[in-house]
Amino acid sequence: MWTRPRDQQVGLPTHTLDVDRVRSHFDFADLGRVVTNNAASTQPPRELAALLVTLTKGYENVHRGQSIASQQTTELFEASYDTFAQWLNAPSRRTIATYRNTTEAINAVMYSLLTDFRDGDNVVTTMLEHNSDFVPWYGMCREILPRFGRHVECRLARFDHRTGELDLDHLAELVDHRTKLVCVTGASNFLGTKPPLTLIRAIADGSGYRRDDGSSGSLLLVDAAQLVPSSYVDVQRLDVDYLAFSCHKVLAPFGVGILYAKERLLAQARPFLYGGDMIATGRVAPDRVEYNDLPWKYAAGTPNILGVIVSAYALRLLPDLVGVDGSTRWFTSTAPLPAPLVAETMNRVGRHTAELTDLALCEAMSIDGLSCYGPAAGLPRSPLLAFNVAGVDPFALAENLGRLGVEARAGCHCATLAHRDLGLDPPASCRLSFALYNSRDDMTYAMDAVRRVTDQLRRRPGLT
Ligand SMILES: Cc1ncc(COP(=O)(O)O)c(C=O)c1O
Repeated sequence: MWTRPRDQQVGLPTHTLDVDRVRSHFDFADLGRVVTNNAASTQPPRELAALLVTLTKGYENVHRGQSIASQQTTELFEASYDTFAQWLNAPSRRTIATYRNTTEAINAVMYSLLTDFRDGDNVVTTMLEHNSDFVPWYGMCREILPRFGRHVECRLARFDHRTGELDLDHLAELVDHRTKLVCVTGASNFLGTKPPLTLIRAIADGSGYRRDDGSSGSLLLVDAAQLVPSSYVDVQRLDVDYLAFSCHKVLAPFGVGILYAKERLLAQARPFLYGGDMIATGRVAPDRVEYNDLPWKYAAGTPNILGVIVSAYALRLLPDLVGVDGSTRWFTSTAPLPAPLVAETMNRVGRHTAELTDLALCEAMSIDGLSCYGPAAGLPRSPLLAFNVAGVDPFALAENLGRLGVEARAGCHCATLAHRDLGLDPPASCRLSFALYNSRDDMTYAMDAVRRVTDQLRRRPGLT
């Protein structure tokens, strides 16, 4: 493996976050890796690996045993739901469901709502979406509902090709009195755009869609896979109906996605998965099944118990890593996470990653032939930059960056609609994305490597 020279491994402290201190919790930092593919997945801190080992000593199923081990694991598992709720400032654990990832969480909403769509309804989503927040709606509208004789349209709002901003006027035009649901990304994983969720909420509220309970307005789902890792998200303030994110993008291991939904929606909806534990104890008869209380109505089958617990602890560790409250170790405490603590933690992470992104964007602008997509430096955006260099294959660029230790990603990043809409052929770009543990040295080294590799590839286009 390529190793970065030792003297380049030390990050400058920034005004917002002590990066050296953060990095001391991660093994990758000692390997000289320039970890800049964080929009795909972040690295796990050492504490979580240790926690996993500790948990395996009391390894047992949840809600399925009377042993002390089972009871203790159940307690930890249930408390994880409280942590997820606190992280999002959700009213309670009753508004939380856990799935494998964001994709599964959005599919869960689709399958739960499926039969509620009326013939002639529509779903409005955007050309900015990750495939996880387009393909389920495409599938529902084009493949599933037509088989039941119901026709529901999937409409796509445009974005401005120059600025990457969502065309709100177009979105407002598409939303009408037959729009049951508006689905939008909180932060794009390709352009970096952060659509204004408060305005979109207002557009959805004003749609005039007639709900079964007599009220009116469209539901709003936010794909927060790229929003939660670098910002404070308060679901009550945003007043979203559904919000999904993946814990593997917030320091946790793979395998856990969180769905927040308003309690009344979860209470009245059909479950996505049917089976054990999601039923009310003893309330199953051949002709009648009753469901468990929230949130366990949405926890069919043995869940990813250790993954869920460790994911909650990944969130609890963040304030400690960022050093927001020097007097408490939230990772080892069981106290509820106060909303101001979470807000300050994520504001610091957001400021740090935004600073790195802006600096990288400015560097990028000085590289001959390089075009970055999305909002300009200084504007709200997710901490990533996706770009192409005239005459350079993005895959060759990413591979060569990899040889220099810079972990980039080339492809369409599952934002296929936006790549195609921009006329990119192949529909691909090279992307660098930052997390709280990235130093300024990482950024400088990565951008320097981009400059060197593009020069080389331009001179020898066949080089891979
Ligand atoms: C904006 C966005 N939505 C959804 C996803 C899907 O996440 P997962 O693969 O964890 O389901 C991603 C992953 O990169 C993403 O960036």
